[in-house]
Amino acid sequence: MSKTYRIAPSILSADFARLGQEVQSVIAAGADWIHFDVMDNHYVPNLTFGPMICQALKPHAKTPDGRAVPIDVHLMVQPVDALAAAFADAGADLISFHPDASAHAHRSVQAIKARGVQAGVVFNPAEPLDVLDWLIDDIDLILIMSVNPGFGGQSFIDSALRKVEQARKRIEQSGRDIRLEVDGGIKADNIRRVADAGADTFVAGSAIFGQSDYKAVIDKMRQALA
Ligand code: DX5
Ligand code: ZN
Repeated sequence: MSKTYRIAPSILSADFARLGQEVQSVIAAGADWIHFDVMDNHYVPNLTFGPMICQALKPHAKTPDGRAVPIDVHLMVQPVDALAAAFADAGADLISFHPDASAHAHRSVQAIKARGVQAGVVFNPAEPLDVLDWLIDDIDLILIMSVNPGFGGQSFIDSALRKVEQARKRIEQSGRDIRLEVDGGIKADNIRRVADAGADTFVAGSAIFGQSDYKAVIDKMRQALA
């Protein structure tokens, strides 16, 4: 298993009036990726931001010494392909979508990869992993939802741990280098359990942006992972 853990703060819980600064602050605090939650008020009951905001934030997604920090776009939209293309053009480094939101999930993966962007698939709490039988050879990321998508600040759903274990087994069987990310309800006091189940990448929104000292939270998460 990859032991390079990544922490991906979700700017869903950031101050939207100061998004550029928020991205810079959380990167200075140690964020590895910036998680960008796209909601369409159709696939999920909430509405957030689109490709123009991603493009505007791209120049801010850099460490203080100028290294680019990946923008991890989580599409909670239906249909998928046109918006995935727009996010690729807007500077996304990884784009993940929910296979149940796409009429042709394999085509959606192809559409993302054809633009030179890493592709991920996302599984809701009640969604089985079956489509991985047919997608695992082509993807770069599996994202397991540990809340129902749509809102930050919800409680972690424990059955996600079993799904993370199953996903980890599938990754090992594939022999491929695929990141395993978990999204929803992650905090410093449960991140270790999620890692022990097999995850290597952790989305956290309210746990980080809900505190004034982002570095203190991220450091605490890293200590829990160490
Ligand atoms: C939920 C989003 C999550 C959300 C996580 O639909 O996909 O990324 O921001 O928020 P927290 O960490 O507050 O549960
Ligand atoms: Zn997300």
